[in-house]
Amino acid sequence: MSTNTDQKGQRAPWPAGQQPRVLVTQAVPQPGIDLLRTFAGVDANPDEGVIWSKEELKARLPGHDALYCLLTDTIDAEVLDAAPDLWVIANMAVGFNNIDIAEATRRGISVTDTPGEITDTTDDFAWALLMAAARRVAEADRFTRAGKFHGWGPLMLLGGGVAGRTLGVVGFGRIGQAVARRALGFGMPVLYYDIKPVDAETERELNARHVSLDELLANADFVSLHVNYTPETHHLLSREQFAHMKPTAYVVNTARGPVIDEAALAEALRDGQIAGAGLDVYENEPEVHPALLALENVVLAPHIASASIDTRNAMATMAAENIKAVVENRRPPNLVNPEVWGEG
Ligand code: DGY
Repeated sequence: MSTNTDQKGQRAPWPAGQQPRVLVTQAVPQPGIDLLRTFAGVDANPDEGVIWSKEELKARLPGHDALYCLLTDTIDAEVLDAAPDLWVIANMAVGFNNIDIAEATRRGISVTDTPGEITDTTDDFAWALLMAAARRVAEADRFTRAGKFHGWGPLMLLGGGVAGRTLGVVGFGRIGQAVARRALGFGMPVLYYDIKPVDAETERELNARHVSLDELLANADFVSLHVNYTPETHHLLSREQFAHMKPTAYVVNTARGPVIDEAALAEALRDGQIAGAGLDVYENEPEVHPALLALENVVLAPHIASASIDTRNAMATMAAENIKAVVENRRPPNLVNPEVWGEG
């Protein structure tokens, strides 16, 4: 039996007056560390940009009550075995597909994420990729720096239009809806695909219509992905789906890489099945499919959709607050496995 559960297997209260030890797996924004230090002993990876291997993580975990981790850390049964006394895993990300939630739940470990703060920043970036892909911004930058700009040309770097076109949003939760809200300013009708439609008032407000994925792919000029990564969304867009899309359409992915079959996307881009793409996430990060690297009609970013100073500070603080709540015996604000708290 681990210390986080009582003899009946129920969540035990954190022992009053005991200072928790927190392991932080990467260098994170200082406000998060500052907050942790007000109530915990902190062991933080001091090396910016250095990601610990699984073996390193397993070696460092023993003796820690809380794990403050990132989407680059795979937290599975093997890692959890190295930390039998863990009470809480605070992921500094809204997505938590890097954590085996069922396994953590079985062990009575609270798991938390950092939703909310990230929404606007991620959506701004989805639009940045959309605009950059359609108007060939990254390509134009390379062109100019290479000294190829010899004067205005009527045929130079022609791209796709944006205003008034149809936006397809796949996954119409908080982030998907915020992407749709921005489309109002561009006079773009929205088609969305989600398991459940939103209420009629939200649809009216966002000029959005619920359709099947096939209908969305066949009619959208831009397809922006905002689904969680689950077994059901693995390769949601693959050869068959690209074949359904308009040859003038663009795909934007700020969700998770494996939602797209990257090899199929590279083929579709190369063969002109679709016009372009903007990607922030990849199937096997940090690797980028070599066929994508060779193409001009895809804008490639290194998973930075949430990388504004304010948002990253807020995410860092939020993750620390989630740990603080657990050791103050309060339900953490961003709990993803309520079963541990006797709910659900
Ligand atoms: C997340 O939070 O899941 C993003 O992918 C990184 O900020």
